[in-house]
Amino acid sequence: MKDRFLVTGGARLEGSVKVSGAKNSVLKLMAAALLAEGTTTLTNCPEILDVPLMAEVLRGLGCEVSVDHETVRITTPATVSSDADFDAVRQFRASVCVLGPLTSRTGRAVVALPGGDAIGSRPLDMHQSGLEKLGATTYIRHGAVVAEATKLVGAEIELDFPSVGATENILTAAVLAEGRTVLENAAREPEIVDLCVMLRQMGAQLTGEGSPTIVIDGVDKLYPTQHEVIGDRIVAGTWAYAAAMTRGDITVSGIAPRHLHLPLEMLKFAGAQISSYENGFRVNMPHRPKAVDYQTLPFPGFPTDLQPMAIGISAIAEGTSVITENIFEARFRFVDEMMRLGADATVDGHHVVLRGVEQLSSTPVWSSDIRAGAGLVLAGLCADGETEVHDVYHIDRGYPNFVENLQQLGAKIERVSGPADPAPR
Ligand code: UD1
Repeated sequence: MKDRFLVTGGARLEGSVKVSGAKNSVLKLMAAALLAEGTTTLTNCPEILDVPLMAEVLRGLGCEVSVDHETVRITTPATVSSDADFDAVRQFRASVCVLGPLTSRTGRAVVALPGGDAIGSRPLDMHQSGLEKLGATTYIRHGAVVAEATKLVGAEIELDFPSVGATENILTAAVLAEGRTVLENAAREPEIVDLCVMLRQMGAQLTGEGSPTIVIDGVDKLYPTQHEVIGDRIVAGTWAYAAAMTRGDITVSGIAPRHLHLPLEMLKFAGAQISSYENGFRVNMPHRPKAVDYQTLPFPGFPTDLQPMAIGISAIAEGTSVITENIFEARFRFVDEMMRLGADATVDGHHVVLRGVEQLSSTPVWSSDIRAGAGLVLAGLCADGETEVHDVYHIDRGYPNFVENLQQLGAKIERVSGPADPAPR
């Protein structure tokens, strides 16, 4: 039976919340543990479903993995399997991050491809061409991506677009290649920096992470390590927008505020008072937010994963906002649900124009992905009456203790199981 959330609008969210480790970091760090024989320990891991799923993927490749609350221990054997073509891999897209480590460690990787994605097409051409520049042959066969290499040799690689996943797979292949790799137009996301910090602790030689050029000098062997996962900037950003949308006052800890520089700046433009600390920030919104335009871009631009929150705040802001989605084309499906909640929105290609309304109007809505689901909950907090948010298993994949955290902040929300109306067709 699928769970749903019942959200009663009207409460002003107030108080403190701590974020745990970043989903988009921990999964890649777990995959990087494949690069070294022995036990790698990761701390500050988020307690979300994707972590045990990734553990299952690594077990399928021959590792022993224990998940104990926020600590994950991965023991990688001397020989790992090359074959990641099994159900656990197909279940979630992020498992494609084993492609780089398997190619460099075993000279061959077979990684099952997941099915369609709700946020738009997600090709692997840049992952493949990067590995090919390093000397691998890659192709798609029977629903899996295959990479084969007798030897990986460093190369100059320029990405067409700073793809997070391609940057990660190229990095984790190049660290064990022979010679120097220069990766240009690399992704600059904090999660890339986190991966590079851990790879360096494992003995990798690389510089330039956080800039568009990363230089990697391949080494013969890497060693297991212990590493603390960085805080989840998208979860932290969700709390920041929750404060602003409910005219509340929330202090968020466990996050470096520089990782959220632009989303917090945008909240200042909307009228929020922001204070930054070493390991967190506070957002206080004394009045109705003002309309601001947003466009999603690779880091340090506005993150596509916070786009539903940008739409949510614009839906209730004073004035008109234009939101432009530049990363994932299908993310505007979320707008249809927002319109059912009373948002005054017009979609034109990858732009949406929102004329803010005073209050949204409750109705049952359906989550299509992790961030859209969280965005609908925030919208429900700004609606009259009770909003039912369905398909919340998406939200559970990215937000540990979401309902509990919201309740602590004063929101009226509960999780219920049991029969519900079918989704409108
Ligand atoms: C990661 C994040 C996701 C976030 C996204 C952008 C994880 C598990 N997911 O996804 O939450 O929204 O970064 O910040 O970390 N592309 C190609 N060819 C490729 C690779 C990508 O055309 O070979 C395109 C994609 O279709 C998309 C854009 O590049 O339009 C960005 O994708 P990418 O940065 O690779 O995102 P992910 O790593 O999949």
